[in-house]
Amino acid sequence: MFAVHLVVSFFSKLQEDPTKKVDRFMYAMHLHDDQLSDISARFQAEMKKGLSAESNAAAAVKMLPTHVHSTPDGSEKGHFLALDLGGSKFKVLQVKVREGTGVRRGGVEMEEKTYPIPEELLTGSGKELFDHVSESLKDFLHEKKISVEKKHPLALTFSFPCEQSALNQGLLLNWSKNFRARGVQGKDVVQALREAVNRTGGMDVEVLAMVNDTVATMMTCGFDDRYCEVGLIVGSGTNACYMEELHHIDLVEGDEGRMCVNTEWGAFGDDGALNDYITEFDREVDAASNNPGKQILEKMVSGMYLGELVRLVVLKMAKLGLLFEGQVSDALRTKGKITTAHVAAMEEYKHGLKNTRNILVDLDLSPTPDDCIAVQRVSTIVSFRSSNLVAAGLAAILTQIRQNRHLRTLRITVGVDGTVYKTHPRYANRLHKVVQRLIPECHVRFVLSDRGSSKGAALVTAVAQRLASQRRQVDETLLPLRLSGEQLLLVKKRMRGALEAGLKSKGPSAVKMLPSYVYQTPDGTEHGKYLALGLGGTNFRALLVDLKKGLLQNSRLNHKIYPTPVEIMQGSGEELFDHIAQCVGDFLDYMGMKSARLPAGFTFSFPCEQAGIDTGTLVSWTKRFKATDCEGHNVVGMLREAIKRRNEFDLDIVSVVNDTVGTMMSCACEDPQCEIGLIAGTGTNVCYMEELKNIEKIEQEKGQMEREGEEKQDDGAEREKKEEHAGIPKMCINTEWGGLGDDGFLDDIITHYDSEVDQNSLNPGKQRFEKLISGMYLGEVVRQVLLNLTRGGLLFRGQVTEALKTPGIFHTKYLSQIESDRLALLQVRSVLQQLGLDSTCDDSIIVKEVCGAVSHRAAQLCGAGLAAVVDKIRENRGLDHLDITVGVDGSLYKLHPHFSGVLQQTVKMLAPQCTVSFLPSEGGSGTGAALTAAVARKKLEK
Ligand code: BG6
Ligand code: GLC
Ligand code: GLC
Repeated sequence: MFAVHLVVSFFSKLQEDPTKKVDRFMYAMHLHDDQLSDISARFQAEMKKGLSAESNAAAAVKMLPTHVHSTPDGSEKGHFLALDLGGSKFKVLQVKVREGTGVRRGGVEMEEKTYPIPEELLTGSGKELFDHVSESLKDFLHEKKISVEKKHPLALTFSFPCEQSALNQGLLLNWSKNFRARGVQGKDVVQALREAVNRTGGMDVEVLAMVNDTVATMMTCGFDDRYCEVGLIVGSGTNACYMEELHHIDLVEGDEGRMCVNTEWGAFGDDGALNDYITEFDREVDAASNNPGKQILEKMVSGMYLGELVRLVVLKMAKLGLLFEGQVSDALRTKGKITTAHVAAMEEYKHGLKNTRNILVDLDLSPTPDDCIAVQRVSTIVSFRSSNLVAAGLAAILTQIRQNRHLRTLRITVGVDGTVYKTHPRYANRLHKVVQRLIPECHVRFVLSDRGSSKGAALVTAVAQRLASQRRQVDETLLPLRLSGEQLLLVKKRMRGALEAGLKSKGPSAVKMLPSYVYQTPDGTEHGKYLALGLGGTNFRALLVDLKKGLLQNSRLNHKIYPTPVEIMQGSGEELFDHIAQCVGDFLDYMGMKSARLPAGFTFSFPCEQAGIDTGTLVSWTKRFKATDCEGHNVVGMLREAIKRRNEFDLDIVSVVNDTVGTMMSCACEDPQCEIGLIAGTGTNVCYMEELKNIEKIEQEKGQMEREGEEKQDDGAEREKKEEHAGIPKMCINTEWGGLGDDGFLDDIITHYDSEVDQNSLNPGKQRFEKLISGMYLGEVVRQVLLNLTRGGLLFRGQVTEALKTPGIFHTKYLSQIESDRLALLQVRSVLQQLGLDSTCDDSIIVKEVCGAVSHRAAQLCGAGLAAVVDKIRENRGLDHLDITVGVDGSLYKLHPHFSGVLQQTVKMLAPQCTVSFLPSEGGSGTGAALTAAVARKKLEK
């Protein structure tokens, strides 16, 4: 049996296709897809290790931050000198990037010259190497007649691993490939170049940016293709870079936006991660290299080593008698005799075999045709393994990007350069196919870099220049929105003045200080069933409140919300109140209570001049309302008439209150210290309990109440624990603080963005304070700032789109989302996209910053106003310290991630003698209206 087997195998060997024996011999270099996926997964793990602060020091794959934050956006411009050092050729260039070329192609002009680097300089002293570089630069300036008088910005492509803390600085970690100059490792390469330029003299250059060749390649290709976010080199060395989310890069501060990471993947395997894939030939190549034990993956992949690998395999096969009938030449034994160019030639489509033969003959060998086929096969396996390994690495990077962006599929472009990729006839094709097979979910386009990497390096330099000037301009734009502590104190002071003035003046005043005829907050004895109606920002609400002993938590709330159509808000008054009556009718139907004549409280969230709790004359519409024939009319009367017109049901309208008052009342039920109501929603306003004696404009009322108060004080002994001030007669004042500044008092802090918003509003010149603070206007202020930045070319590529021109696109909801800390920038982009704003990563950083500046200012101003109110109450009571609670409602306060925090901080800072608690209203102002009605009724009953 054994003998038969031997004979069969002997004959089959005789007739065997020569590629088969090679395949068998090189079995270990053949990588299946599952092995590639395994390698890819290992590499992704290595990437994570390199990105993490804890494991970076021990990581083989260094994942170096490059400080390149964005790919080109077409707005780069300028003339740059460029040096390209570290690839197979050293080049000096001049790159002219023209601005705004629209179609980007053709926007760059380049002139270049290659300068050979003498062999001995590669291994000599660093000083000599850099002197050579700098002298070549000077020669270039001279030859191209470039002025040496002018200062020239210079971009350096330096294709070795550097640790960078800024774009224009980088410590060389270690040489790779065939460079080994002494005294440079651990030094700043930019500085070394500067020193050399100084030594050479006679030139004025400023090194603005240094980039790795992968980065420069990505940028070069990114100029024509904005999906290009990966740079790949398969040349003398191999490496890749990609745009990583900043929050994954532990070694760099900040967590917004992206940064390009130079993976330095050539070092993958230096810690043994590839040991089970390494062959004896790889070990030999490594042992004979400049840097044994280092750049393990690079030695399996890149142009410096492919020829060597082929030579070692062929040599070994010959020695074993598997080639050339065992004949071995000295040339074949000599390192470097087979190059990557040879490998490429052997695999050429038509002439591959002929080339192989010639190459072997040149090596003093006498190959048979089968030998040529076999050696060609060796080349194929070696280069195929190389492209397979590159594919595995790329698959890991692309998967990382896809996962970062939470995408199922990814459309991306990889910019590529390097002699192996460019000149090997089959390399690119194979690589593309394997990548597609390994990650079918990604649509990957490969773009060959156009004439090297220097265009990209110049673009980085241009971006660096642009970003610096952009930053300055954005800062300048936002500066007027940033308020100092003194300015805020001034606002507080002015608010205080306006509160006092409003209390005195019977005539019009900016802050109206409207008496509400609510004399006390609920004391817990209110009871009964009430209908609460509310007309406010955008909706009309109806609810039925059952006040069982004032415990609202136990009250049964039944309610319905009716959106108010804009045509109703801005139609005729009669239509508006008919609409309300219709909604009430519907609600009573729904509750099955149409026949009961319920007592009702009406929350009407607009300024009303009141002469009693159940009457209110609309002073002026605010926010989105503009219905005709309402201003100057009693709104309760208008509602009663509408109900009469409807003739379906009847109501006993007991009270009309502002939403601030309703909010205070409902919160006071929970916390007796609540004597302020604040709304920060569509509009903004505050009410608070003021001492009647201070409300100069209602003399008569005062006299009567003061007498009542004295009576109350008489039986004050019974209520032992009540605070001293409780007996003092008070009335809730609806400040209508939104009007602060209507007399020009805020002109020094009002920016031209605010003026635009004001001019485009329904009530120009009115509610100036409200327009700096409330939800209806904040989005508009943001939009004005964005318009300004866009017109200045600082945003959205300078394109003022229809979306951006649309008033009202930034609802509070969107502002809140954009500013949410938990949202990654990508999600910010998707919010912007929903709004029709197509933003880049950089755009979204700026948009978020603008939203932040506008809402921060709003919260601070609101805080400054509130500080004035609490200090006034404190002083009213002659206290050194006041503890007080503010009942709050409104979408801005409740939804915005930072508004409430900044507001509270500001109050604390500006009113240090007050401890102010904030109680968000639960039941809304509607329940407050019902309570007011109940309180009013009790008073009537008395
Ligand atoms: C060149 C780039 O085209 O490719 C260099 O301009 C880069 O920056 C080089 O280093 C990489 O390929 P190779 O084959 O020259 O090492
Ligand atoms: C080497 C260098 C790396 C470079 C690559 C391609 O791997 O270490 O920085 O990008 O070669 O030139
Ligand atoms: C507007 C109204 C005011 C209301 C506030 C909050 O400022 O004028 O009455 O309280 O909006 O809704």
